[in-house]
Amino acid sequence: MTPRSRAIAVLDLEPAASDFLAEALAGLSSTPPALPSKFFYDERGSDLFQRICELPEYYLTRTETEILRQSGAEMAASVGENAELVGFGTGAGIKTRLLLQELDNPIAYVPVDISKQRLIDSATALQAAMPSLEVLPVCADYMQPLRLPTPSQKPDHVAVYFPGSTIGNLEPATAETFLERVGRLCGKSGGLIIGVDLQKAPEIIEAAYNDSSGVTAAFNLNLLVRANCELGADFELSCWRHRAIYNQQAGRIEMHLISDGEQRVHLAGREFRFAPGEKIVTEFSYKHTQAGFTALAARAGFRLSRTWTDPQQLFAVFHFVVAD
Ligand code: AVJ
Repeated sequence: MTPRSRAIAVLDLEPAASDFLAEALAGLSSTPPALPSKFFYDERGSDLFQRICELPEYYLTRTETEILRQSGAEMAASVGENAELVGFGTGAGIKTRLLLQELDNPIAYVPVDISKQRLIDSATALQAAMPSLEVLPVCADYMQPLRLPTPSQKPDHVAVYFPGSTIGNLEPATAETFLERVGRLCGKSGGLIIGVDLQKAPEIIEAAYNDSSGVTAAFNLNLLVRANCELGADFELSCWRHRAIYNQQAGRIEMHLISDGEQRVHLAGREFRFAPGEKIVTEFSYKHTQAGFTALAARAGFRLSRTWTDPQQLFAVFHFVVAD
């Protein structure tokens, strides 16, 4: 078959803007006040996150990519031939491409992402690089139940690829429920390749989330920029400070926006008051141990196939299969 270029058509299940308002109101009304991290990723937020990934302090992306470079062939062999690969939040798609290029006769690639522009850009680039691969992008919140498009050829099995330690955004109990759903989605003989940030010295983790050039601060504050622009809120941007703290007990980094003084914020006809030093929680990012994550996945019905890690054991990539 001569490779030909395929048109990229996005299956659009993008959540409505009203979801942002409802979730922002609910979050700001809770104790402690919170804003959900999934709303970081508008176009500007996605660009800032891309810059975070290149920061010297942010070891995650660099380390995971290096693991893919070192062990992509082994991962592909572990996944097996004739697979449909489903990618959750695969961003620019550099790691995905490393994996796809090693796979033996992949049937289709289904990238799922909440950020439509990032999805279109990466799917288009991937399709150009691999013209004979069927690419079926879906714009959706993969944390919600999901139906996938059907590839034109029937795969032997489905493998979900979930890189970037995004699973760390979920509370362990929620991560377990989410993985159960992933197991049902990929079905019998299905598999999961997942990147997970590992527990380590708190200084290393805190540096990664409090970078010296302030990119993470801008990323965090972008939530307030979005609330102002899209929801008509009146956050005074200069009165909020970014700070990430590692909670060793819980094994998670906690991103906060800290109020610089006494202030009032208005959103959709409601008023929210903040005391000096009061925090809005914007993100939890859990760090796991290899044994701990394997046990979590086992409770969700996954059996460990293989694990790959870097020499310093900063980060791990696991291949799990649906247990029978
Ligand atoms: C995309 C959730 C993996 O927790 O490291 C980076 C997001 N937040 N810097 C992470 C993030 C602040 C990132 N994840």
